[in-house]
Amino acid sequence: NQVLRLGVAGLGTVGASLLRLTQRHANELALRCGRPVVVTAVTARDRFRDRGLDLSTVTWFDDPMSLAQSPDIDVFVELMGGADGAAADSVRAALDAKKHVVTANKALLAKHGTELARRAESNGVSLNFEAAAAGGIPIIKTLRESLAGNRVGRVYGILNGTCNYILTRMEREGIAFDACLAEAQRLGYAEADPTFDVDGFDTAHKLALLTAIAFGTEINSDAIYVEGIRSITTADIEAADELGYRIKLLGVATRTESGIEQRVHPTMVPKSSPIARVDGVTNAVAVEADFVGRLVLSGPGAGGDATASAVMSDIADLARGDVVGTFGRPAHTLQPYQQAVMRAH
Ligand code: NAP
Ligand code: HSE
Repeated sequence: NQVLRLGVAGLGTVGASLLRLTQRHANELALRCGRPVVVTAVTARDRFRDRGLDLSTVTWFDDPMSLAQSPDIDVFVELMGGADGAAADSVRAALDAKKHVVTANKALLAKHGTELARRAESNGVSLNFEAAAAGGIPIIKTLRESLAGNRVGRVYGILNGTCNYILTRMEREGIAFDACLAEAQRLGYAEADPTFDVDGFDTAHKLALLTAIAFGTEINSDAIYVEGIRSITTADIEAADELGYRIKLLGVATRTESGIEQRVHPTMVPKSSPIARVDGVTNAVAVEADFVGRLVLSGPGAGGDATASAVMSDIADLARGDVVGTFGRPAHTLQPYQQAVMRAH
């Protein structure tokens, strides 16, 4: 059967794990997808850095634009990051060259997702992004595919592994915020600019994507109320503990009579709640919907291998020819986003 040829832009935490995954599970992937799935071309900034990868069989491109437009790839896998610049330019170029695109880049999609979904549709190709929300948890497919028969009332959860790691370490070990953040960076959890994590914007980006699928709205992460964890101290955590609560950074999107309410902020969660027990880099996402009721998914929210697992699930869909549409509905049917009046909670 015909090989599915991947062009991977970005060989950092996620890209390197994806290459290892494709090499280690090549035979199993070919059986599951009905055809071989092979990384044939790559790009990154520094060609000469030793990444511990065998790149002897792949073609190196000096820039993402020429990789995106190469006739020798079928899928452009964008793992560089950034809402604009090389990521946005090369994803647009790949879609216009009628290449399927897989990305883990929530900053890009939160800013340009509606436009990119329309561009993918008009070019007859797919734009898939399972890895862009909650790392290894299959929440995109769950909302987009498994819950297609439901009217969703609320989606909420812990959507940032770095913040949950920091809050857990501060609580359990009494370690200072800055030291916990440095650990999260060393472990490959944090964004290139970690202010996106700790100031809540990464959670807002992910929440905006979940909202688009769950409620059929255009993406507007700028409309979200956002507060991060930078000002949380160990004294706050101890005070919450004495009252029977744990502090978690939550993203919440709720359907209301006046629109969709979206907010991101540190929240006192009762210790008896399942979400209070979600520790470290683990994320948890709860969905409340009319026919299925309430379900909660939890798992690794960041890290190279867990994220590469989610990236590969999108690639496997493409290899099998499964087409669902970026947000689970035609892009032109997404409704303008209307922020509901915020209530006190
Ligand atoms: P990373 O470790 O910083 O790796 C970024 C890679 O992109 C590097 O290989 C870098 O090249 C390359 N790159 C950056 N700008 C480039 C440019 N202009 N041209 C060519 N190559 C360029 O980042 P990451 O953690 O793997 O994250 C990648 C994406 O996945 C981001 O969108 C991130 O938000 C998302 N994501 C990450 C995680 C996670 O746990 N890390 C989880 C979910 C989603 P050099 O290596 O040569 O510098
Ligand atoms: N920086 C992100 C996090 C990576 O910590 O959750 C996963 O999206």
